[in-house]
Amino acid sequence: MTDERTLPEPFKIKMVEPVRLIPRKRREEAIREAGYNVFNLRSQDVFVDLLTDSGTSAMSDRQWSALMRGDESYAGSRSYQLLSKTVSCVFGYPHLVPTHQGRAAENILMTMLVEEGDRVVGNMHFDTTEGHILLQKAKPVNLLIEEGYEVVSDHPFKGNIDVQRLQDELERHGNRVPFVLLTVTCNNNGGQPVSLQNIKQVSEMVRAHDIPLFFDAARFAENAYFIKQREPEYADWTVQDIARKMFSYGDGCTMSAKKDGLVNIGGFLAFADREYFDEAIKWQIPFEGFITYGGQAGRDMQALSQGLYEVTDIDYLRQRTGQVRYLAENLRRREIPVIWPPGGHGVYIDAQQVLPHIPPSQFPGQSLVVELYIEGGVRGVELGSLAFAHEDPDTQEVVHPPLQLVRLAIPRRVYTRRHMDWVVDVVTKVCRRGGQLPGYSLTYEAPVLRHFTAQLEPIGAGKASE
Ligand code: F0G
Repeated sequence: MTDERTLPEPFKIKMVEPVRLIPRKRREEAIREAGYNVFNLRSQDVFVDLLTDSGTSAMSDRQWSALMRGDESYAGSRSYQLLSKTVSCVFGYPHLVPTHQGRAAENILMTMLVEEGDRVVGNMHFDTTEGHILLQKAKPVNLLIEEGYEVVSDHPFKGNIDVQRLQDELERHGNRVPFVLLTVTCNNNGGQPVSLQNIKQVSEMVRAHDIPLFFDAARFAENAYFIKQREPEYADWTVQDIARKMFSYGDGCTMSAKKDGLVNIGGFLAFADREYFDEAIKWQIPFEGFITYGGQAGRDMQALSQGLYEVTDIDYLRQRTGQVRYLAENLRRREIPVIWPPGGHGVYIDAQQVLPHIPPSQFPGQSLVVELYIEGGVRGVELGSLAFAHEDPDTQEVVHPPLQLVRLAIPRRVYTRRHMDWVVDVVTKVCRRGGQLPGYSLTYEAPVLRHFTAQLEPIGAGKASE
């Protein structure tokens, strides 16, 4: 009866923030001045900003009013108590360690549990998670199912871990695996969900080896909603009950509240057992601040507490995932190759298919990103060789990632269907003249995480927009 892709937003707009499409000539200048890197653009020069869904959500009137009730006490803050109660209710984990954002929670988890030479196993670690594992001189091990790497697949849970490979890993290296980390949803392959069946299997396997299971819960509510939709056993469950069930199989989680916390900054660790909490606060205090604030203002925790309830609301999730699907379907209908099925927080375009004439070493994804900005002020992000290519330490050869993707991440409760229609038009126009787009070369790169600050220039005529 209801079509989720076209369902009106389940909210009215109470406050607006103007956005403006600056003239094309100005966009060409802006991107040139930015060294052809959209991270260097000024946000007021962007019309539809799909760089990330992280920290870009619109808060509700209830969240804004919750800010006023924040308790800014250094120790024993009421807002911490409230957030503890909420996390305990939504996740089922009673021991809360707030942090300023998700990677800070990862830093604490890795510092407390990972040692040099360890192997941290997961479905597919997010970049910052991987970074923190490497900082401990340990090895990130990604055991995503094969279908998870396919651009188009009808597998409903492309975020699942390959249980056979997990079994082998645990048998061979179990003593070097400090824990298994499931990222729900799996960001790096398109925001793909992990099934409850998979979570259960993983939990049984790790228990048999006495290894803990943690979740990277950044997009837990979107994952829970996909379980409701795609795993028939849970079709009649509430999203809240599904989320609780998911987390009941684990020992705790790291959380970037900038996603499914519906706030602009914040994160936490939460644990089922007191022992992990005791260990975590040893690191939280020096890294993040005292136990009862950990890098957040009391008002931040107050707004987050409200956000965690709103994010599991079925009407919210229906529209949220429906909007992502709407964008993906409309691009697909215009024969733009997108990761299928679409995930929970964005649409990922296979830039290599669109620009077959540009080799990975000349960043086809970046070429597309630059052109989307010039064409319609749309800011996406490259997730291909610019972000992920690296030198093999043994052979010194450049290893390119398997896919050259462009991510269009949709902020929560921010844009309307008209914005999505604009994006579809812009992407379609650019892809239709893909053959004319240039490759790019680097003129500056930092030694790590180079895509954030890289400077580039178009190869050839030096014109990226004709
Ligand atoms: N885990 C996942 C799955 C993430 O997607 C992110 C951030 C983090 C952890 C780190 O959290 O940013 O609060 O420190 N992802 C953002 C993105 C940056 O654009 O996908 P953070």
